[in-house]
Amino acid sequence: MDILQKVQNYREEQEKLKWEGTLADYLKLLKERPYLAQSAHSRVYNMIKHKGVVEEDDRKIYKFFGDELFGLEEPLERLVEEYFHPAAKRLDVRKRILLLMGPVSGGKSTLVTLLKRGLEKFTHTDEGAVYGIKGCPMHEDPLHLIPPNLRDEFEEEYGIKIEGNLSPLNMMRLEKEYNGKIEDVMVERIFFSEDKRTGIGTFSPSDPKSQDIADLTGSIDFSTIAEYGSESDPRAYRFDGELNKANRGMMEFQEMLKCDEKFLWHLLSLTQEGNFKAGRFALISADELIVAHTNESEYRSFIANKKNEALHSRMIVMPVPYNLKVSQEERIYEKMINESDMKDVHIAPHALKIAAMFTILTRLKESNRGNITLLKKMYLYDGQDVEGFSDTDVRELKKEFPDEGMSGIDPRYVINRISSTIIKKEMTSINALDVLRSLKDGLDDHPSISKEQREEYLNFISVARKEYDELAKKEVQKAFVYSYEESAKTLMDNYLDNVEAFCNKTKIHDPLTGEEMQPDEKLMRSIEEQIGISENAKKAFREEILIRISAYARKGKRFDYQSHERLREAIQKKLFADLKDVVKITTSTKTPDEQQLKKINEVVATLVDEYGYNTTSANELLRYVGSLLNR
Ligand SMILES: Nc1ncnc2c1ncn2[C@@H]1O[C@H](COP(=O)(O)OP(=O)(O)OP(=O)(O)O)[C@@H](O)[C@H]1O
Ligand SMILES: [Mg+2]
Repeated sequence: MDILQKVQNYREEQEKLKWEGTLADYLKLLKERPYLAQSAHSRVYNMIKHKGVVEEDDRKIYKFFGDELFGLEEPLERLVEEYFHPAAKRLDVRKRILLLMGPVSGGKSTLVTLLKRGLEKFTHTDEGAVYGIKGCPMHEDPLHLIPPNLRDEFEEEYGIKIEGNLSPLNMMRLEKEYNGKIEDVMVERIFFSEDKRTGIGTFSPSDPKSQDIADLTGSIDFSTIAEYGSESDPRAYRFDGELNKANRGMMEFQEMLKCDEKFLWHLLSLTQEGNFKAGRFALISADELIVAHTNESEYRSFIANKKNEALHSRMIVMPVPYNLKVSQEERIYEKMINESDMKDVHIAPHALKIAAMFTILTRLKESNRGNITLLKKMYLYDGQDVEGFSDTDVRELKKEFPDEGMSGIDPRYVINRISSTIIKKEMTSINALDVLRSLKDGLDDHPSISKEQREEYLNFISVARKEYDELAKKEVQKAFVYSYEESAKTLMDNYLDNVEAFCNKTKIHDPLTGEEMQPDEKLMRSIEEQIGISENAKKAFREEILIRISAYARKGKRFDYQSHERLREAIQKKLFADLKDVVKITTSTKTPDEQQLKKINEVVATLVDEYGYNTTSANELLRYVGSLLNR
């Protein structure tokens, strides 16, 4: 299907979702689907639940956040269970401003955006549909039309509790346009959209001298005063502040704690009483979730100020710490790189993992239990097995510092360092060592790092580097064994021929010249030594192998490379030891001979085909491992 066709289909689908009718029609809808009248908080909670919840060892993982936020399952579970869920049930927390507190670049804005975009989509579904009084700039809840003295009876009949009073504007419209007949008032389905300023608002403070409260609560429309005769006619007012527009949905309050007080007072009554004051009108009811975000130091100085007590008591603070799992941190970087213009640069395997190790180390706190290093803690948090530690230990470690993850290196720093290195050096390929180096160089001009911290971080760089050395060696060994499956078999056959001749006291035939020769003792020992078989034990070992071969033969099975675990290990080690020599030689000044070059090329090919390297990064890896082996 071409794109224009898709556009048309989409338009038609959207068209089908539209609904318009009288209040009487709307009440019929509510009879069947009372949830349509849910509060803003309840809608947000249902939206989160709607995407699915996975229960995993008495934890709840909300899939809603899963595509964008990684490694924050625990704080997010807490956010849902302690704020959204009780707020949806109309408990008191709903009357408080949700204040997300966390370190820089820890995902607070991402979380808020996720909620906003989620709501926009959710209002297009059946479960999340929202209806408002038609033509009302605040898309007021149609149920506000039900007179207060009849609401108890309404609740009895519909099972729906109505909160809030009809706004001055709609009160007037009811009289002038509908002659007071509420059942005739037109209702329409609305769809949240931040761009169209429906149901989603964002307030960000600017200069308090020039910024007007109108940004929050709307203002008089002077051009219409003449028409309506008075400033206190609600029709001469523009209900277009962020609080108005966000009615029924959510409002993001950016930099709230930096904001001038006069803006905050409006929030006091809005959150507590569910209404706010605009112009010269009676209070206006609003139903919306207010989310703000801040960092820890800003928050501390806010609560230290006595003047803020009233506001403080109307907030619920939810921590959004940094992720503490290496594997999840790697995913964060991958996501950020995919969103950037670096996505065509080759990033060698393990480069991001090693960066993530460094970052997580800066975020962890040293345990008071003597037996655990930061590195072990890092592996445990990432769900890896560490000898001597169990799941219970992990749980206890996590409890030790409730504020762990509120400081350390942020993901944006890492991505900025990687991208500036790539750009400065015009690289098309970057590896773990390049990344570590650029992280290290950047520490010098990192604005918020003290001298002691810098020392500590440099140490973490070398810890991460050591982890990389191990990984790099293993990787080359793995690639080598993979490329040399054939050689392993040949070496094995060769060894077995010699062992047979040795045990039977016969000679072996050179396959090329047919010449008779003594068994090759040097070859056999070079293999056996790999697994620590001593000179005295060699005869028993060789005989054991012959017995195994004949046992296989009796059963009609072929003895091969996989048939004897220790022998296989010995062969692999021998091959790798040979490779070490080749790697050492090729990376030292001497020029490698043709055979050595061929070997190296085969390993490079395996690294590229099987392990995600490109030729550049594979050669860099080999050279690096060579230098490690030469030490
Ligand atoms: N846990 C995480 N999972 C996924 N992405 C994350 C996570 N933490 C941070 N990020 C990514 O890091 C970048 C910065 O995050 P974001 O802007 O949401 O942070 P913030 O807490 O609002 O920061 P600031 O305090 O600077 O406003 C974003 O690209 C975001 O996607
Ligand atoms: Mg932010």
